[in-house]
Amino acid sequence: MSSAYLPAGLARRTESLSSSAIRDLLALTARDDVISLAGGLPATDLIPVDRIAAAAEAALRTPDALQYCETRGHGTLRSVLAARESDARGGVTVPVDTVVVTHGSQQALTLLAQALIDPGAVVVVDEPAYTGALQVFSIADARIEAIPIDSDGMDTEELERRLAAGLRPAVVHTVANFHNPRGVTMSEQRRRHLAALADRFGFWVIEDDPYGEIWFAAPDSATPGVGAPPLPIACHSDRVIRLSSASKILAPTLRVGWFVAPRAVCAAVELLKQGADLCGSSMTQLMAADMLGDTAWLDAHLVDLRREYSCRATALTTALDAEFGARLTVSRPAGGMFTWATFEDATDTGELLAAALDHGVAFVPGTAFGSGEQYRRSLRLSFAGATPAVLTDAVRPLASARSAFTRAH
Ligand SMILES: Cc1ncc(COP(=O)(O)O)c(C=O)c1O
Repeated sequence: MSSAYLPAGLARRTESLSSSAIRDLLALTARDDVISLAGGLPATDLIPVDRIAAAAEAALRTPDALQYCETRGHGTLRSVLAARESDARGGVTVPVDTVVVTHGSQQALTLLAQALIDPGAVVVVDEPAYTGALQVFSIADARIEAIPIDSDGMDTEELERRLAAGLRPAVVHTVANFHNPRGVTMSEQRRRHLAALADRFGFWVIEDDPYGEIWFAAPDSATPGVGAPPLPIACHSDRVIRLSSASKILAPTLRVGWFVAPRAVCAAVELLKQGADLCGSSMTQLMAADMLGDTAWLDAHLVDLRREYSCRATALTTALDAEFGARLTVSRPAGGMFTWATFEDATDTGELLAAALDHGVAFVPGTAFGSGEQYRRSLRLSFAGATPAVLTDAVRPLASARSAFTRAH
């Protein structure tokens, strides 16, 4: 929806609002006759329904499950998250009072933008970028600067050149693990470099990590099941705020996200969150604490998720290779939920989408993730939501759509 449709009498802030292209597309692709490779939804068939039901049952027997909880999150969940974060950082203790629970990590982004970004301040994002972050930073009235990413993540050398030339960001946002939409993972060396730049130039890094646990192949290796990403950027500087979420590994409907940050940032966000919603849901936070704290169950669940997502990624990339050959360059995901593909000819994926929907398949055109001309030929495909057989079947109509589109142009 563009601001042209907004009625008079609304605040000036609403004039620059635009809907995420992906959320608009989700409405279109909810049709039964369309196989959607567009959304960033985790696999519905892999959501652990029975374990969630057991967690709900157990939570309901806890007296405070149906009450308000602390604004920064239920203490039980924050303790579990602090322990998990400590593990993720190779055993460095993460204190409980540096963890804040939010309504999904998207709310963490919104509240952090309010806490850290003055109108007109510079925010650096990946190019291409997570659309939800672009939306938040544009609502915050930030001046957005994009730094390209390649197979090693954000090009921190380029960032350093821009900083040396005078760029002074308040915040650098990056998705370092299994990037949305590119699928790439930031190298260890660039993580250290970005952290060192944050210390030297005094900006915050938001390390947005909903996909880090869904790894299924080592970079440069064809072996599924090995290859966790490098240690978080947060291991290398106190100026890094690390966000994560239960959405992709348990279920989005829990709306449980969290971040770890210096105490002053947590305190500021707590005040903003009081104004936004008083607190999150005690019920779903207790459920998340139960499941995330049950390490034996969670480890087995993650092994299943990684194995299945790995199969789905292979099914999709193999089918794309078979149908398109050298005309389409397809990324080889080592984790996460997305494949990024680029046509080697002049196929405009924004225009191709209409033909693809007619043929019963949907994807997200590259231009949803940035304004660069180079994205006109690219597309993001999610392999998470469909079985290998359905993914293979989805590629044929995509190829037919492209043939029809090419004939018409
Ligand atoms: C990079 C990134 N960050 C944050 C989110 C928000 O997720 P949630 O609010 O469900 O935790 C998403 C969702 O797709 C995402 O891809």
